[in-house]
Amino acid sequence: MIETVLSIETSCDDTSVAVVQKNGRVLAMQSASQDQFHQPFGGIVPEIACRNHSIALLPLIEKVVDASKVGWKGVQGVVVTNRPGLVGSLIVGLVTAKSIAQAKGIPLLGVNHLEGHLLAPFLSDETYLPKKIFGERFIALAVSGGHTSIYDVQGLGKYRILGSTLDDAAGEAFDKFGKMIGLGWPGGVKIDKLAAQGNIKAYEFPRSMILEENEIMSFSGLKSSAQRLVEQLGETEVQKNLADLCASYQEAIVDVLMAKLERAVRRMKTDLVVITGGVSANSRLRARAEDWAARSRKTLMIPPLRYCTDNAAMIGYAGILHMNQGARHDLALGPSPASLPGDFEVDAHG
Ligand code: KG4
Ligand code: ZN
Repeated sequence: MIETVLSIETSCDDTSVAVVQKNGRVLAMQSASQDQFHQPFGGIVPEIACRNHSIALLPLIEKVVDASKVGWKGVQGVVVTNRPGLVGSLIVGLVTAKSIAQAKGIPLLGVNHLEGHLLAPFLSDETYLPKKIFGERFIALAVSGGHTSIYDVQGLGKYRILGSTLDDAAGEAFDKFGKMIGLGWPGGVKIDKLAAQGNIKAYEFPRSMILEENEIMSFSGLKSSAQRLVEQLGETEVQKNLADLCASYQEAIVDVLMAKLERAVRRMKTDLVVITGGVSANSRLRARAEDWAARSRKTLMIPPLRYCTDNAAMIGYAGILHMNQGARHDLALGPSPASLPGDFEVDAHG
């Protein structure tokens, strides 16, 4: 039985390292955001991402192993995100993880980043205790800058995608709108803050596919309709009405996410619901989800912000659970830009 692993996450633009125990307890975690390096370009530049991972990673590993108190002696395995993600970024984490596994003579395992997001609500630390331990079947809305999907989670490694976005991820829809109205990148957090002062009914935005009897979503129509409105209004009007624009736009996204999540829960008849990924930080989505869960007597778990956004703790937890079922990779493990066949089952209409 492996008690403790070191985990590394470099799939996108955040460098993150953690030491995690087999019950999901996070002994130490540190992440380095690269937002300041990508901001001038209005999005993630893959070359800049992998260069900064390679600068940040080794010092971060030393710090986290030290902070974990168990030290290198206590690290019994290495877990690393090897899919899906930017290949150049994945490689930095992967070669580092392989080197450590080889040098220390400990097992290695590559895990799917999205599986990490699904298990994130079940992590624990000194200031966060999950409402439930991992085991019961649940529905998860995983919503970030790169992904927006609803999953039926039946157990470890048993993940069925009920539906996904056909085009933009919800976080991408936030960020593109942020750029349009001059908030810079990434705009999600700023839209959330401005929306709190605005009127959700001030502007009409489309809620694509909301009435369709499935969990499939689409956000590209919303983005185009916002583009037309912003052009019609003109710069001065847009700046005068920022709060109302943000509130109305955000409400359209939250309406779609909640309608599809509620539908999945009705269809699968589960009591436990999870919302995870960077957009689960959105205060309106949280408030709407909490209100719905209370009304419909569901247990809702949303991880704290540090485990919502990309982080290594969730990767470590997914990995140690698989390792304790015997899973291992050898040094031939490679990165993959996409999930692999077998990672997720796809629902008939998902
Ligand atoms: O999971 P994450 O850190 O990275 C990946 O995309 O994998 O998610 C980042 C996304 C960005 O699109 C960001 O704008 C969005 O999450 N986001 C938010 C909020 N905080 C972060 N969107 C809306 N409201 C927020 N409060
Ligand atoms: Zn992510």
